[in-house]
Amino acid sequence: MKIFLAEHRGFCYGVKRAVDMAISSLDLNCPVHTLGPIIHNPQMISHLNELGISTVDKLEEIIAGKVIIRSHGVGPDIYDQAESKQLQVVDATCPHVKKAQQAAHNLLLAGYKVVIVGEPHHPEVQSILAWTNQAASVVETLAEAEALPYYSRLGVVAQTTFAADRFQAIVTILQAKCQELKIERTICTATDLRQQAAINLAQKVDIMIVVGGKNSANTARLASVCQDTGKAAYHIESANELQPEWFTGVQTAGITAGASTPDWVIKEVYEKMEALNMTDITKVENGSIIEG
Ligand code: F3S
Repeated sequence: MKIFLAEHRGFCYGVKRAVDMAISSLDLNCPVHTLGPIIHNPQMISHLNELGISTVDKLEEIIAGKVIIRSHGVGPDIYDQAESKQLQVVDATCPHVKKAQQAAHNLLLAGYKVVIVGEPHHPEVQSILAWTNQAASVVETLAEAEALPYYSRLGVVAQTTFAADRFQAIVTILQAKCQELKIERTICTATDLRQQAAINLAQKVDIMIVVGGKNSANTARLASVCQDTGKAAYHIESANELQPEWFTGVQTAGITAGASTPDWVIKEVYEKMEALNMTDITKVENGSIIEG
């Protein structure tokens, strides 16, 4: 069996930057916390915990030390609260998210009714909304766009990971909802690149292994675009979940991984598949079935 890795896989730029910033902020003289899990990956969270970086849900839980703002970003109130508590802020907001926050804020200041196209409960959308002082409307579906009243000036920003085709469909509806429409194209290409690379690879191999947290939406989406090519695709969180029977009769297998999957988790999966592969070769050479 030949094993291939998708050209674009694993950590995106913003997540890698946030994890690197968290690790470099380790300090023996003061406690370090992340406000919310820094990435949707349980192995990485426990690795950071072992290093001494704890995760808190609310700023109130921190007495002193450093607070790391994750790639999804936060609203201006959190920076203010951190300052009044005299915490050191390590701002790991992804620059693409920062751009969306600033765009929304500037549209509001310029007198536009701001529409954020995204998932209402996603922490990034919540952070962008906070930069409009909760004045923006969040629209996720075509029906929600249709239901908006008429405005003279609409300003649109997108959740960075929103699907580009659905964003465009929503923008088309919004065009008929106002006199003037200003569009800030804040979608990041990382998600698309991963999905396209996964589809390209799935088309060439017999099966796909998709690595990432079970609660990671972008990993689940990668598994579903692979399955849409007609190939078997298995979503696993770690190498332990690989089942030898998946590889029976398989000549070529591909690996991809969600944007919050660390390289070492991908490497473990690759090595375990190679080990299964060696067992398989032994089977053929000996002409008899051995454990595997
Ligand atoms: Fe940033 Fe794009 Fe990743 S917005 S966090 S680089 S998916």
